[in-house]
Amino acid sequence: MNVLLGITGGIAAYKSCELLRQFQRAGHTIKVIMTAAAQEFVTPKTFESLSDNQVYTPDWFANTRGNAHIELARWADVLIIAPATANTLYKCAQGKADDLLSTVYLAYDRKTFFAPAMNSKMLENSAVQNNINLLKNAGNIILDPTSGELACKEVGPGKMMQPEDIFRWVIELTGTSSSLLGKKIVLTAGPTREYIDPVRFISSPSTGTMGVAIAHEALCRGGEVTLVHGPMQVPYKGTAIAVTSAQEMFEAVMQQLPCDIFVGTAAVADYRPEQASCSKIKKSTSNLNLHLCANPDIIHTVADSHKVKNLVIGFSAETDHII
Ligand SMILES: Cc1cc2nc3c(=O)[nH]c(=O)nc-3n(C[C@H](O)[C@H](O)[C@H](O)COP(=O)(O)O)c2cc1C
Repeated sequence: MNVLLGITGGIAAYKSCELLRQFQRAGHTIKVIMTAAAQEFVTPKTFESLSDNQVYTPDWFANTRGNAHIELARWADVLIIAPATANTLYKCAQGKADDLLSTVYLAYDRKTFFAPAMNSKMLENSAVQNNINLLKNAGNIILDPTSGELACKEVGPGKMMQPEDIFRWVIELTGTSSSLLGKKIVLTAGPTREYIDPVRFISSPSTGTMGVAIAHEALCRGGEVTLVHGPMQVPYKGTAIAVTSAQEMFEAVMQQLPCDIFVGTAAVADYRPEQASCSKIKKSTSNLNLHLCANPDIIHTVADSHKVKNLVIGFSAETDHII
């Protein structure tokens, strides 16, 4: 999902780094809009590095041509403003579009998530409460601030909702499936290489596409996914461990246990040369015998380990007796 994250000028702006990471870990694409005041609290560079995308600021908007605000609004599957200052709540409630974020808000035609954060007295002020009610009545979602010690050292309501709770609400309320939320999922993908000598190996033409597709889906459903993969070209956004041989894949997988779900899609070589040659094997005789020994069976070992709580799924490519 394309997540457009608006950040405004409150102390809680630093917490949006963690919010961004939550969505990123779940495989979503993030773009960030910062208000001028937000940049007093956290630099755009921070969000640029974390999001792998340029950060959209009022300065950028002033110097850009075309309908950047419309394009950003069209791009977004979800718009989240966190933290949302009293000032930005007012502008959005009243339809005042005097900077990039408030203009994008007006151009966005679905519900927006607001995570207000401010001093308790500010929050309780009737002007702020009226604006919050206007935003709610317009179909937006207000992610209620929590109580606790505030940046101003007062205790009371006004703390921005925790990033993990914002993430959970957005996932639930946008209808994005959260069926794997909090589940630890380990997957394997791609081929393995069993080296005969430094320049030759036994492998398969597996691309890793199946494993990556399942891993992305698991991420989108809120899972905590680790992909252990052999050499492959398919891009993958989540947490990954790259290995080469079946033995390495076996060891990497066992280190990831226990987990809730294991999915083995990798085309693991069943056999490896008993002894790989340290130097290139020269062409000398007309026949060359390779002695192979069995690799560990990753899926069977994982299944027998009883360290997978819910489900073990194994893929196997066959030429005969296909199910
Ligand atoms: C140190 C400091 C902390 C602030 N914290 C908040 C805050 O938590 N919530 C809030 O609504 N305003 C806060 N403000 C005021 C906003 O920064 C100010 O209203 C600003 O105009 C908001 O602009 P924006 O909504 O375009 O980001 C703070 C100001 C300062 C100087």
